[in-house]
Amino acid sequence: MGHTYRTVTWNRQKRIYDLVLWSGIVGYLIVFMVVGGLTFPNVTIETLLLRSTSTCAFLLLHIILSIGPLTRLDTRFLPLLYNRRHMGVSMFGVALVHATLAFIQFHALGDLNPFVSVFVSGTAGDILSSIPFQAFGALALLILFLMAATSHDFWLSQFSAPTWKRLHMLVYGAYLLLVGHVAFGYVQDATSPVPGVLLGIGAMWIVGIHLAAGFRELKYDRPVAPEDVSADGYVRVCSVDDIEENEAVTATISGERVAVFKHGNRFSAVSNVCQHQNGPLGEGRIIDGYITCPWHGYQYCPLTGKSPEPFTERIPTFDVRVEGNSVFVSDHPNQLGEEGQFESSSSDDSSSIP
Ligand code: HEM
Ligand code: FES
Repeated sequence: MGHTYRTVTWNRQKRIYDLVLWSGIVGYLIVFMVVGGLTFPNVTIETLLLRSTSTCAFLLLHIILSIGPLTRLDTRFLPLLYNRRHMGVSMFGVALVHATLAFIQFHALGDLNPFVSVFVSGTAGDILSSIPFQAFGALALLILFLMAATSHDFWLSQFSAPTWKRLHMLVYGAYLLLVGHVAFGYVQDATSPVPGVLLGIGAMWIVGIHLAAGFRELKYDRPVAPEDVSADGYVRVCSVDDIEENEAVTATISGERVAVFKHGNRFSAVSNVCQHQNGPLGEGRIIDGYITCPWHGYQYCPLTGKSPEPFTERIPTFDVRVEGNSVFVSDHPNQLGEEGQFESSSSDDSSSIP
C-alpha cells in the first residue's frame, strides 16, 4: 500500500502461484515442441521454438484478459486475480523470446536495417499479403513492455491509481494489435484452417465474457427510483436486514458506486472503488475492524475511509441515516478523510439494528 514499497515482496502464496504458472509455461512449451516435432518431422527447432513461445504468450494473454470478467461473474476466480501481474510479466517474457527469435531469424541477417525490416516486411503480391504483420506484433510488444515495466506498486503510487489503470487498459490495444498480427500472418501463410478457427474462438471468448460481466455490472448502475430519494438528498439503498454483519450492499448514487457496510451497531457508507486497482470493496468484508478489499487485501477504516497507519490511501465516505427499517445514504461524498455520520431515527442506535 502507499507508504513504503519493497523491491519484491514474496510470500508463500505468491511462490506457489509462480511455481504453478511457470510449471504450466514450461510444460506447454515442452508438449508443444515434442508433439509438433513428432507430427511434422521436417519442421526445424527454430520454428518449433518460435511457434511454441508465440502461442504460449498469446494463450496467457487470453487468460489474463479473462480473469477480470471471470471474477465479476464468479468470486471463486479471485485467487487468479491476486497475482495477475506476475502472469502479465511472465507473458511478456515469453513473448519477448518469440519476438527475439523472429527478429534474429527473419531480420538480422538481411541487407535492411533489422528494425526497419520488421515494419516493412510483407510477402508482397496482393494487398493482404503485403501488410507487414510483424509490425503489429512489434507495437504490441512495446505496449506489453510498458505494462511489465510499470507493473510494480512503486509505479502505481507514482502515477496514482486512475492514471496507472488507464495505462494498463492499453492491454486491450495490445490484444487488438496481436489479433491483427496473427490474422494477417495467417492469411499470408494459411496451410491449415486450425489457427484461423482458434483465433476466432479466442476473440469470441474475450468479447463474450466481457459482455457477460458488463451485463452483470449493469445491475449496480441501475438509476435510483425517484420515490427512493428523500427531500434532503438521501437515497434509500436497502432494508436494514438486507446487509449481513461485516458485509455490504452496493448501490450507485449520483453516478458513484457506494458500499454500505453493517458493523457492530452502526452502518457506514464508503466509495465502492479500491484505491489500488479499483477493486469492488463492497464484495469484501470487515476484517479486524477494517474493510478489506477482496482483490489484494488493501484495508480501509469504515468510519473515515482511511487505510490503517502507516498506509496513506483514502476513499470517500458518505453519511448514512436509518429511518425505520430503511437505510438511506447521502447523495454526496464527504471530504476525503472526513468521518461519515450515522443517524438512526430510533433513540437507541443498537435497537435499530437487529
Ligand atoms: C517484434 C515483435 C514480433 C515479431 C517480429 C514477431 C514475428 C512473428 C513471425 C515472423 C511470425 C510467423 C511465424 C511463423 O510463421 O512461423 C509470428 C507469428 C505469431 N506471433 Fe509474433 N512477432 C512479434 C511479437 C509477438 C507478440 C508480442 C506476440 C504475443 C504475445 C506474438 C504472437 C504470435 C502468434 C500467436 C503467432 C502465430 C503463431 C506462429 O505462427 O508462431 N508475436 N510472429
Ligand atoms: S484492488 Fe487491489 S487491493 Fe483493492
